Amino acid sequence: MVSSTVPTRVRRGRLRLSCVWLFLVSGTLSAATDDDVEARVSALLGKMTLAEKIGQMSQINGADGKLPDGLRETIRRGQIGSILNEVDLGVVNEMQRIAVEESRLGIPLLMGRDVIHGFTTVLPIPLGLAATFDPELVRRGARMAAQEAAASGINWTFAPMIDISRDPRWGRIAESFGEDPYLTRVLATAMVEGFQGEDLSAPGTIAACAKHFAGYGASEAGRDYDTTNIPENELRNVYLPPFKAAVDAGVATLMASFSDLNGIPATGNRFLMTEVLREEWRFDGFVVSDWGSIKQLSVNGLTANDREAGYEAFNAGVNMEMATSVYADHLETLLAQGRIAETRIDAMVADILRVKIRLGLFENPYTNPSDFPATSNDRNLATARESALQSIVLLENRDRTLPLNTDNLKSLAVIGPLADDAYEQLGTWIFDGDPSISRTPLQAIKQFAGDGVEVRHVKAMETTRSRSETAFGEALRAAKDADAIVVFLGEESILSGEAHSRADIGLPGNQAELVGTLAQAGKPLIAVVMAGRPLTLGNILDDVDALLFAWHPGTMGGPAIADILFGVASPSGKLPATFPKMVGQVPIYYAHKQTGRPPTPETFVHIDDIPVRLPQYLTGFVTNHLDAGYEPQYPFGYGLSYGRFVYGDIEVSGKEIPLGQPLTLRATVRNEGAVEAEEVVQLYVRDLVGQLTRPVRELKGFRRVRLSPGEHRVVSFELSAQDLAFYGRDMRPITEPGAFHAWIGGSSDADLQTEFSIVEPAKTSP
Ligand code: NOJ
Repeated sequence: MVSSTVPTRVRRGRLRLSCVWLFLVSGTLSAATDDDVEARVSALLGKMTLAEKIGQMSQINGADGKLPDGLRETIRRGQIGSILNEVDLGVVNEMQRIAVEESRLGIPLLMGRDVIHGFTTVLPIPLGLAATFDPELVRRGARMAAQEAAASGINWTFAPMIDISRDPRWGRIAESFGEDPYLTRVLATAMVEGFQGEDLSAPGTIAACAKHFAGYGASEAGRDYDTTNIPENELRNVYLPPFKAAVDAGVATLMASFSDLNGIPATGNRFLMTEVLREEWRFDGFVVSDWGSIKQLSVNGLTANDREAGYEAFNAGVNMEMATSVYADHLETLLAQGRIAETRIDAMVADILRVKIRLGLFENPYTNPSDFPATSNDRNLATARESALQSIVLLENRDRTLPLNTDNLKSLAVIGPLADDAYEQLGTWIFDGDPSISRTPLQAIKQFAGDGVEVRHVKAMETTRSRSETAFGEALRAAKDADAIVVFLGEESILSGEAHSRADIGLPGNQAELVGTLAQAGKPLIAVVMAGRPLTLGNILDDVDALLFAWHPGTMGGPAIADILFGVASPSGKLPATFPKMVGQVPIYYAHKQTGRPPTPETFVHIDDIPVRLPQYLTGFVTNHLDAGYEPQYPFGYGLSYGRFVYGDIEVSGKEIPLGQPLTLRATVRNEGAVEAEEVVQLYVRDLVGQLTRPVRELKGFRRVRLSPGEHRVVSFELSAQDLAFYGRDMRPITEPGAFHAWIGGSSDADLQTEFSIVEPAKTSP
């Protein structure tokens, strides 16, 4: 362990320059222009040895709060560009000191960490953040996380994860923003802006990393790391737009996906990393491999050995290798063999140095915790609470079971494995999350209920996976004695996340049986589900009167849930991913293509209703599952409220819009309920005929509005020609003249519809 946290020279002030070369190159302390940055990059490159260049392209895992001699020496020799997973501030500062003051050229280190949804203060999992449909809040959350992480010396996060995820079996859907390219694009931008701020060199900003480039979310059967086959057109229309948005927002880095994309694993995929990313999008940051993904090219069977794997990844455009040492071991040989050029190495290293310069690391390599607000301060906890509050989705509310009315409530039974579990509510990827500051639902309910309501808690199951029903009797007794029951169900955090896919996405263990038992009490039964993915909930729906889906809500999940249970706030989250009725419906998503034989409510025949030996043609010939039908349990964008939002007066600024002109769509939304509430107003569009078939609906805009009872608002969306564009047969964006339908409402199945056409502009006389 290294004892001092901040080297003495840091305490003298943050503007101290640690690198003499900076004066030599730019001679100024003012914010660097692009030209300054490039001048500094090339001056530095000019002095670097080959070993130092290759060093910059290597990232290794930290040593858990230790700084072994070997690692010191590697840093001193300038043979490492980045460390990941070291958050002991003393060690971090000491590593930077060695890099900056003892290595020949004084190049500081990138300190990487998975800061995915908060740091010490944990926000809802990203899928929950997506349910807020609130980019401003997501930006604020990322800003908070960046500051907390920066106080530990982290200057680079491996987030946002912006893989389009249309398969809830995939454990990493938890880390994503769900199934929709538009929502993911908007939130990707917000998160990048939140982490990086307006000036990457400002204190408390960190470099972001858009991952996993690209297509990782489409892994076969939702098994992690598995093959993806995505036609280029679908790649461009669905999977790439969030990455383009992140690049446009100035994201500093990207991470290559683990998966095999159309036969060429992403880490060795030149089309992705060079043709699309650099040549088309003009990205000037750098790409890091995923953990060992260069070495794994040989496991994938793309290459026969490490040297060839290094060649493919280098040639594809991967600048930095995470965790393994293929580049360190083989790039020099590949250069000596004339298979790669030093100019190309220089270009790859320049991308890395550029990011280090933009981060201001040469000027401020050290971290002084007193420059930062305390972690988990009141403001951060408030951000976590607001994020959790807005992420919670009300799926069912029969006979207005919710909110609970404390006037009539004398006793409440709080049951279930997740009612009081400070750790599990945090979800996946919480390396630095502090469960000791979590506020659990049970704590928050007790606090809200005060002395007026007797709260009886029975855990009933040890974990969400337990099969034992021995405590069910006690749970039922508590339920019978209470005026209402709230049961906390779901998945423990370990059941989602990396390499934690599931083939059955129902409630694990005997949770459905627990619900069945509680239903025997005959009291209002409210289920709160915390999970890392959409679940199939059909086996509890008949038994529950109200159902809240809270994802893994993070540190402040408890108070947010209590606010909703007791009506302090109305639920306002909307689903960022479709909930299937049965896992066999997967993939099921709202923006699907229309088949030639689309189903309708009239054409659905349930498997149980088919007479024996009915001639095949009598059940019709439409796209359908005989047992599940064609509709999901809950569609994308769905979520109820304590308010009652009624939509009307949809209008479009013109029925015929000349190609290239913007158009405005608007509708009135009125809160006809009895309480103030927020609603996410959503706009969907369908391009009826295209040179390539288009989805039946596509989200094109959304806005959160807060309305008092009786209040109404006209919500307008402006769309440009570009907003209606898609990648056509030649893989270029095109907006085609033709007919469009548009819907405005509170879910992807909104039925308030209008039409318009895009027409060729009238020819003007010369
Ligand atoms: C592997 C994961 O795929 C990636 O998302 C993560 O950032 C790295 N490991 C580093 O932890």
